[in-house]
Amino acid sequence: MDDNFVIIQRPRLICECKNVSLQKIQEEVHVHGVRTLKDLVLRTRASTGCGSCASAVREAFETELTKTAPELPGSADNEP
Ligand code: FES
Repeated sequence: MDDNFVIIQRPRLICECKNVSLQKIQEEVHVHGVRTLKDLVLRTRASTGCGSCASAVREAFETELTKTAPELPGSADNEP
């Protein structure tokens, strides 16, 4: 067995045509503050090729967006 063997994992691609990974979508939402699907598409070009990934792109984006939702005033966690 070769001790120098290294396994490299590729990021999971959501859009293969434009090489957009789940990690890239997460970065756009959480690092760059993208809050609309339109902006995500403009920045990454995701779903602008064959279009078959459109629902997966939207689903991944919406999932990440829910993780950024601010707490509402008066919610249980904000009570004194
Ligand atoms: S896989 Fe995303 S546009 Fe084709």
